[in-house]
Amino acid sequence: MQKCKCFLCSQKTDRTSLIVETTAPQGMHPLANAYLWRSFRLILELGFGLYSRRIALLRSLGLRGTESTLDIGCGTGEFSVVTSGTYLGVDMNPQYVQSAHRFHPGKEFLCADVTRLVSTGRSFEVGLLVDVLHHLPGEEIIRLFATLAEILTQRIYVIDPVTQSPSNRLGRWIISKDRGRFVRPKSELLSLLEGAMEVLTVHDTRLMLIEGICVTGKPRRL
Ligand SMILES: C[S@@+](CC[C@H](N)C(=O)[O-])C[C@H]1O[C@@H](n2cnc3c(N)ncnc32)[C@H](O)[C@@H]1O
Repeated sequence: MQKCKCFLCSQKTDRTSLIVETTAPQGMHPLANAYLWRSFRLILELGFGLYSRRIALLRSLGLRGTESTLDIGCGTGEFSVVTSGTYLGVDMNPQYVQSAHRFHPGKEFLCADVTRLVSTGRSFEVGLLVDVLHHLPGEEIIRLFATLAEILTQRIYVIDPVTQSPSNRLGRWIISKDRGRFVRPKSELLSLLEGAMEVLTVHDTRLMLIEGICVTGKPRRL
């Protein structure tokens, strides 16, 4: 293990595999297994258009598909197809990152805790944060966006679930099983994002009964 000198990462890493020595808990949840996770998400894609509908939404919100893109909490890298330009996906689950390398050759992935990223001068036009903010406490989101403000030059796209309406019992049940411990009311997530970036648009989303929001913004430089 050695201190990573590549980019963005402040952690100790094995340079050959890009596996980061992280103290972040990986958990024993079955979906922490990359094979199960990827299969689960691909079934949701077939049944509900988990990725294709979201990519269409991102396109309708101005994502051209050629921008250099930093994908925060990239999972197994399914959003790497959003751009033909430079793409870097970052996720702290080493299994997910290995799977991303395997199924998306030619794209770049890094195993790291995104709350410990540092800017080393490399920049990206677009930042993507899909289904990741509900895994992070508010203070870590603020810190993450402060770092992103140094790395991103044009747009930030956030898609995340919010607290489900009382009448949406199935949605509430599904969210209660989510590994993310910080699913927030829409107003709370929005005010967090308004403090962290210059919010441009806000759309309500509903996918597989799950209520969420899609927010676009500009990095706010300090
Ligand atoms: C619900 S998944 C979404 C994955 C991907 N964005 C997608 O839509 O397919 C959330 C991801 O965030 C990652 N994650 C959560 N906290 C993280 C952190 N502190 N650093 C890096 N990745 C993190 C998890 O490992 C997981 O892959």
